[in-house]
Amino acid sequence: MLRLAVVGTGYWGKNIVRAFSNTQPSALYACCDADQDRLQQIKTSYPGIQAYTSYDTLLQDTKVDAIAIATPSPTHFMLAKQALASGKHVYVEKPLTMTVSESSELIDLAARHKRILMVGHLMIYHPAIQKLKDIIDSGELGDIFYVYTQRLNLGIIRENENAWWSLAPHDISIILYLSGSIPSRISVNGQGYLRSHVQDVVFADLQFEDGRMAQIHVSWLDPHKMRKLTVVGSRKMVVFDDMEPIEKLKIYDKGVEAKLGYESYGDALTLRQGDIYIPNVTMEEPLKIECQHFVHCVMNGHKPETDGENGLAVVKILEAGQQSLDSSGAVVDIL
Ligand SMILES: NC(=O)c1ccc[n+]([C@@H]2O[C@H](COP(=O)([O-])OP(=O)(O)OC[C@H]3O[C@@H](n4cnc5c(N)ncnc54)[C@H](O)[C@@H]3O)[C@@H](O)[C@H]2O)c1
Repeated sequence: MLRLAVVGTGYWGKNIVRAFSNTQPSALYACCDADQDRLQQIKTSYPGIQAYTSYDTLLQDTKVDAIAIATPSPTHFMLAKQALASGKHVYVEKPLTMTVSESSELIDLAARHKRILMVGHLMIYHPAIQKLKDIIDSGELGDIFYVYTQRLNLGIIRENENAWWSLAPHDISIILYLSGSIPSRISVNGQGYLRSHVQDVVFADLQFEDGRMAQIHVSWLDPHKMRKLTVVGSRKMVVFDDMEPIEKLKIYDKGVEAKLGYESYGDALTLRQGDIYIPNVTMEEPLKIECQHFVHCVMNGHKPETDGENGLAVVKILEAGQQSLDSSGAVVDIL
């Protein structure tokens, strides 16, 4: 039986606590939050658990096998480093850390201590995204030309991080997962309208070596609540709309075909306006799947789908994107 502890029981941490209280074969053993009131609320819902306000005290509890970190992103590195050094398996919310060098250090530390390090790239555990990956890999869409994502809402306005670091990790992780490769260049523009030093609205353009493109639009200052991804392939196109309660994926049998034998390029093109169909996706809560995956990997010594390396790849793009953002959208190589 794996004994789990969750540190950070705020807005998102509460969900992590709920999800880990239902994973098998494991038990939610402890929670830790510097905020006594928040901790008390959790203790009321889960009276059997240990409750710690001090992270050091939690680390000293030898009964804890694994720690899930759901504290603000700038704290991830130090808390994860301490947990790995104390011999605990670690799950960290996205983004893994705030710098590439910190992520690399955590990967080395996890390898040295033979511990599992997993990052909460939630969308990779979303059944509709997994279905979309299968559809792309089957070749049904043809060659993938480009992808764009929209993650917009009014709020939640963050203090510790801008919209790029807060929202884009979801979209970057999806793009890496679906494309199976890392883009080579990035250009990012954004503005802080509410507070000049924290960008509320960000547009990012990513270029792959083979000509594929991806665009990410994230904002917490928008009238729409949108979580959408569009994939345009040479044969078909797909829209993933996470705001749809059931029909989250729609495949558009639309495209442009070239006919041979015409002298003018325009005459040789025909638009294909085919059917739209909705593949059947059996929905299950992505967070539940994600947390169960962590427990499974720890119990069986398996490499998580979203391991430290995957966390590092996302942080590389975030860091290069921030560099571009700081230089008014200059194109930055992703190394
Ligand atoms: N996967 C998702 O969809 C998703 C959604 C929202 C947030 N998140 C991530 O979850 C993390 C937390 O975000 P949030 O919105 O819940 O933040 P939050 O501010 O609501 O909660 C953070 C909690 O951590 C506690 N805390 C901070 N430092 C601590 C320390 N050293 N020891 C003990 N407790 C400490 C705070 O008291 C607070 O209760 C972030 O990394 C964020 O990126 C993920």
